Amino acid sequence: MIIGIETTAHTFGVAVVDHGKILCNVRDSYTTEKGGIIPMDAAKHHRNVSETIFKKALEEAKIAEKEIKAIAISNAPGLAPCLSEGMKFAKKKAAELGLLLIPVNHCAAHLEIGRITGSKDPVLLYASGANTQIIAYADGKYRVFGETLDIGIGNFLDNFARYLGLGFPGGPKIMELGSKGKKFVELPYTIKGMDVAFSGLLTNVKQKYDALQKKSVDYTKEDLAYSVQETAFALLVEASERAMAHIGKKELLLGGGVGCNTRLQEMCKKMCEARGAAFFAPGNSLLIDNGAMIAYLGEIMFNHKIFFPADEVDINPRERTDDVQVTWR
Ligand SMILES: Nc1ncnc2c1ncn2[C@@H]1O[C@H](COP(=O)(O)OP(=O)(O)O)[C@@H](O)[C@H]1O
Ligand SMILES: [Mg+2]
Repeated sequence: MIIGIETTAHTFGVAVVDHGKILCNVRDSYTTEKGGIIPMDAAKHHRNVSETIFKKALEEAKIAEKEIKAIAISNAPGLAPCLSEGMKFAKKKAAELGLLLIPVNHCAAHLEIGRITGSKDPVLLYASGANTQIIAYADGKYRVFGETLDIGIGNFLDNFARYLGLGFPGGPKIMELGSKGKKFVELPYTIKGMDVAFSGLLTNVKQKYDALQKKSVDYTKEDLAYSVQETAFALLVEASERAMAHIGKKELLLGGGVGCNTRLQEMCKKMCEARGAAFFAPGNSLLIDNGAMIAYLGEIMFNHKIFFPADEVDINPRERTDDVQVTWR
């Protein structure tokens, strides 16, 4: 049995996995009413909830501490204060229980958990807060075929939501607002091959929102939320389709928190249907940051003898998906 701890950004999650089966997936997330994430505050949140969440996970999984074989910890990439807080907690537990640590790359975990859907050899659309990448596995690594050239899709949605005075996370709020939009407002559309960009789109939509505050225009903020989703998601779906055509893959798998968006899922599904490909998405609790994906990949790594004494493991805030040597596949 492997226990997994997720702590790279807003979420402190703990889960237990046994032979690929998720026995529990407990979490507590840092949220705000108005601003975005303040890294030190998020770290403080993790410090405050860690013991409670850990205990709750063991209770829900109905296991005793001594049944745990090793502790998987998300050591990269992420916000340094959050990573440090989680690492400190994992090391404390490792010392208490006399266990080894499995350092898990958060992005790789978002991708690997997708296997639970039955997808075998997909192009992965990894759409989360800080990360937006089009990925496929080849020859020992997750290769990045396309990615955002500036900000992640989730950060983009969160930033726009913040501008509208909505709190963090903003993605779900934009989705709700957008569902009431009727009119499509033309917005900048930036794609180069399989790379995308969102900062120009962000500036432009903020200007359109400013205009709406000042004078009478023929669109509402609901229309803007709707148009932002249509435009940004079309970029992702176009880049994904190009990657599928380029590499000749017949599956698309969605990963990351923005993957919870029902409109994005619908657009991915339509594209796949049109080209005779299969579309896969895990459930929301496995898309948004969670401990289960860390425990799940942690168990696979453990079975491949990838574990270390606690003092040999450190955080790596900037490790990229394609830095990871995938020796477990
Ligand atoms: N329904 C949704 N629609 C769009 N974005 C969403 C939705 N639910 C969550 N998100 C976004 O997902 C992001 C968090 O995803 P996650 O994978 O947990 O991110 P990260 O690992 O980068 O912190 C946030 O930016 C949040 O706004
Ligand atoms: Mg994530």
